Amino acid sequence: MAWWENRFLKVKDGKLYLGRREAAKIAAEHGTPLFVYSRKQVLANLDALRRAFAGKTDLETRICYAMKANPNREILRMLKAAGTWIDAVSPGEVHEALGAGFAPRNILFTGTSVSPEDFRQAFAVDGLTVNIDAYEQLEIMKSVRDRWFKGRTIRVSVRWNPGIGRGFNPKVVTAGERSPDGTPIKFGVEEKKILATFEKAREFGFKPVGLHQHLGSGWVKEDLAEVAEAAARMIQKAAELEKEGFILEFLDFGGGFGPRYSKGQGLFPVAKYAAFICREIKKRRLKIRALAVEPGKYLLAEAGVLLLTVGYLKESYGNLFACVNGGTFNTLPRPAIYPQAYHEIVPCSRLGSTNKRRITVAGNLCETGDVFGKEILMPVPKAGDVLAVLNAGAYARTMASNYNLRPIPKEIII
Ligand code: LLP
Repeated sequence: MAWWENRFLKVKDGKLYLGRREAAKIAAEHGTPLFVYSRKQVLANLDALRRAFAGKTDLETRICYAMKANPNREILRMLKAAGTWIDAVSPGEVHEALGAGFAPRNILFTGTSVSPEDFRQAFAVDGLTVNIDAYEQLEIMKSVRDRWFKGRTIRVSVRWNPGIGRGFNPKVVTAGERSPDGTPIKFGVEEKKILATFEKAREFGFKPVGLHQHLGSGWVKEDLAEVAEAAARMIQKAAELEKEGFILEFLDFGGGFGPRYSKGQGLFPVAKYAAFICREIKKRRLKIRALAVEPGKYLLAEAGVLLLTVGYLKESYGNLFACVNGGTFNTLPRPAIYPQAYHEIVPCSRLGSTNKRRITVAGNLCETGDVFGKEILMPVPKAGDVLAVLNAGAYARTMASNYNLRPIPKEIII
């Protein structure tokens, strides 16, 4: 059994099946490039996450889907029906979430560099919770509210920066002072301003209901100790806030727990992490009613593939390329923009083949970085073969652009 097989992806007689159908046949029917998502796999991932928390706490556990990972309308509707909440990061996402049927009370708006117009649009949604990213936002929030929504009680939480961040590459480490590549980290309120932020929010007539953190994206097995430490810090901070009279409704631990992207990568132990959080909250006897997490990748990544067709093989200076009919930036930009992003690539009809070589899967854009995978050891495909790029359900279609005036592929859900 291949390491990546799951409910959605199966190998039979050397061929890749997506659900019950052969991937190559789906490609022939719909054309490529094509995204294929699996309802069953998304729901299975959601279920696994719920089970990780089940029985460990009496608190309500809110799974707030980080819709930036994949804002496909059908996916949103399905997750709404399954009882998730929403982590939205822009007025556009809030609007889409409402359109998919989410109630304002189930949406947390977490912006960064938030404009007065962003606040105006967020405050217009009565019942939504607004996550404060900076002490310095409060005056702006007050003036927007007083101008457009005088007398409205707006629920707020505070995103703090616990001083520890973790992510699979420096661009997505979102807490700490600086990212591992030296970039100053823009997110959240630093520790020494937390209490002042809560106090000022209350003084201005906002209703503080939560404390939030998000450390980064794409955690692996080795990240557990650090992220547990950050979680412990947040729980401690909530206890201090209670002493100051801020009895919060929820603690939101953000997202970040990754699926497995490559064979050698250790899977982040979500159940251990959940156990740790629940134990710490109990120990501190916090008065909160709910805890929240904000998965994006965990729910969606492995529930999607991108199908591409090989036009021809090319050899140049000893390099072997499979030239495909899609570009990374138009479909799945991750490998082109993050050197650490790896996506398994599977020749859909040759999984049994032993004729393997190191192949670079080259897109059709005018950049050297436009490769889906570099020198991947895989069965040699032939012209017309369909390749499946795995883990394409999260941060793929949603980050795609029309660069080089190439179209963005269509999506189907099975
Ligand atoms: N909550 C907040 C506030 C976030 O900013 C994010 C992701 C999440 C939750 C969900 O994180 P996840 O569970 O998906 O790791 N484009 C990058 C990922 C950027 C993530 C940004 N924030 C990538 O392709 O890896």
